[in-house]
Amino acid sequence: MAEMKYILNDLDYYSEVYQTYIRCSGRHGSIQEWVDTAFKEEVVEKLSKRCQSADPLKVLGIGSGAGNIDCAMLEQLLPTFPQITNTILDPSEAQNDRFKKLVNEKEDTLKGASFEWKTETSDQYLDKIFSCEGGAQPPKFHLIHAVHVLYYAADLKQTLKRLHDMLEDGGLLFIIIVSRECTIIKVHENMNEIVTDLRPVLLTDEMIGATLDSQNMPYSGEQVTRYIKGTSVFKEGSQDGDHLLDFLTHSKDFRKTAPDNLRESVLKYLRDPECSMEKDGEILFFRYWVPMSVPK
Ligand SMILES: C[S@@+](CC[C@H](N)C(=O)[O-])C[C@H]1O[C@@H](n2cnc3c(N)ncnc32)[C@H](O)[C@@H]1O
Repeated sequence: MAEMKYILNDLDYYSEVYQTYIRCSGRHGSIQEWVDTAFKEEVVEKLSKRCQSADPLKVLGIGSGAGNIDCAMLEQLLPTFPQITNTILDPSEAQNDRFKKLVNEKEDTLKGASFEWKTETSDQYLDKIFSCEGGAQPPKFHLIHAVHVLYYAADLKQTLKRLHDMLEDGGLLFIIIVSRECTIIKVHENMNEIVTDLRPVLLTDEMIGATLDSQNMPYSGEQVTRYIKGTSVFKEGSQDGDHLLDFLTHSKDFRKTAPDNLRESVLKYLRDPECSMEKDGEILFFRYWVPMSVPK
């Protein structure tokens, strides 16, 4: 039996399977649809009241990946803030390259936006700028967003404090994170029951909320309910199915490398009502997430 590999140790593969995960969410299930419809009220209007004179609007994107969500957010922000500078952090070169390609394709709708990409994790970046090398103060931003990425922060309390410190007065920290009832969280919990501490616990909105509370940082946000088409997971030989399974378990080649008892347990549990439901002949996994706005 080959050894199981954590997908975060292969960021190119991570980004490949995440693209499949997004595709299987479909347009309606994706965050992009939420950004196109709700982001204006949740973020743009708040920022326009609080940072009216921001010119340019300074944005920091954490774990921006292929940039689809960042670009969708920028398309909502640009009519209100015609000049926007973006500092983008992602440790995956492949993801940053995808983002750069997308910016070229969207040249017309992103007029006024400029970008600087940094191939590093949030911890690498924050450690560097908070070490105050040469006495320099950390840069400030009007909007810092972290969409589906704080799961991987080594020290959540410190990360949130640093991000909050880097906000301009009136600025906004915008986080999207899954909630406890999401299938991916259930699967991680199930795996850790079978093989003790196999995967790091992924953070949820509850943990982010508790950490913000402990630092007296008020926030708002309500759960969004979406689904992922997961029938392919149960079709041997389906590449989409293998990718979904790998993302849900955060394991590369899970079907081939997991011990039999773990694979059987996960596949069985994925059919449990805690993890999925059936609609119109399709098995749907739960993709519940919470957009959290933290004003300064
Ligand atoms: C689930 S994807 C989200 C991508 C994008 N925000 C989106 O919603 O489409 C997570 C991204 O975080 C990046 N990532 C992983 N660990 C990270 C870390 N410690 N700091 C910053 N980004 C990280 C990955 O390379 C990946 O692009």
